[in-house]
Amino acid sequence: MEFRDFNDARTLARWLEERDENKLDALFKSALEVKRRFRGEGIYLRGLIEISNICRKNCLYCGIRSGNRNVERYELTDEQVLEEARFSLEAGYGSVVLQGGERSDGVFTERISRLVYKIKKLDAGGGRGLGITLSLGEQSREVYREWFRAGAHRYLLRIESSDRRLYESIHPSGPLHGYDNRIKALEDLKSEGYIMGTGVMIGLPGQTVEHLAGDLLFFKKIGAAMVGMGPYIPHPDTPMGASGVRLCPDSSADAGKLLLSLKMVALLRHLLPGANIAATTALQVLAPDGRERALLAGANVVMPNMTDVSVRKNYQLYSGKSGLEDTAQDTKDKLVQNLDRLGIRVEWNEWGDPGKQMPDCILGNR
Ligand code: 5AD
Ligand code: SF4
Repeated sequence: MEFRDFNDARTLARWLEERDENKLDALFKSALEVKRRFRGEGIYLRGLIEISNICRKNCLYCGIRSGNRNVERYELTDEQVLEEARFSLEAGYGSVVLQGGERSDGVFTERISRLVYKIKKLDAGGGRGLGITLSLGEQSREVYREWFRAGAHRYLLRIESSDRRLYESIHPSGPLHGYDNRIKALEDLKSEGYIMGTGVMIGLPGQTVEHLAGDLLFFKKIGAAMVGMGPYIPHPDTPMGASGVRLCPDSSADAGKLLLSLKMVALLRHLLPGANIAATTALQVLAPDGRERALLAGANVVMPNMTDVSVRKNYQLYSGKSGLEDTAQDTKDKLVQNLDRLGIRVEWNEWGDPGKQMPDCILGNR
């Protein structure tokens, strides 16, 4: 397969509709090969710290939306965050992701700066410490700058859908949830020097293969260096989930969504050979080995959950989240066992920043 085969929306959409197992097998194998060539044999881990479920936004799909009264809100203490960061460091993860609901008040933004600074200082061994990724929503440029100065160097902010109309259909109206603000935030992050990551949900109501093909091209156009794409999973306490909840999982629908997600990963690996592509946690809801299958289709990052068991149940963006009772150590043990079984090598103690993208001439875009 040639890279240039994947550069237009029609070809991508056709692949997303492909059902021939042999062809899909070839696509996944090719994606894995591209990943090996551009990013090496191994994969990278990032300890995921779900710092708080308090959010000012009210996205129509998300279980921790501000309008959901059934959630017990929590905020980890500084000590808990630092303890989880220390665990990540000692476990050899190399990086952490601080993720949480969106807040813009000064108390919050200053606290994040302080935490980032302290996490950076954790490594007493003279190494360069943990790589820090933030995933804390839309912020002002000044706040992004402050957090960068404190020591964060990567930021994840999903576009959710790059199609304006679809984006608007899954968010409340009004400026707080505006599409243009999200695009501006992604541009601001790049301008402030972050390695910028974005992503989408797959299988949204009203979403077509054309939308998804557009998403793949969007990642390339906006210059995403990291991408996290996961299946949309209805949450019963949300406006979108309430209308179409599947109480007992419809396995054919789940299998379809999983396959679509794997195709998205494999196609993106051809489009952005040097990117960091996450095997997202939501894939695990559809199949126990969902994340591992994504790694075999071209993904190269996994984010094992560090969050304290006492609050983990309160950070459910979607329903069916697995490992709610697992400690950070259980999570690590299970993951390492699965990866070992599949012969997937982990690059321990590495930041694992994205490689240089291939020049356009090699991609056939001249
Ligand atoms: N299903 C899948 N993913 C979801 N997210 C939020 N709610 C859901 C859901 N119901 C994802 C969004 C968000 C990320 C933190 O979690 O893409 O950006
Ligand atoms: Fe808040 Fe993010 Fe959930 Fe939207 S998706 S409600 S911004 S946590």
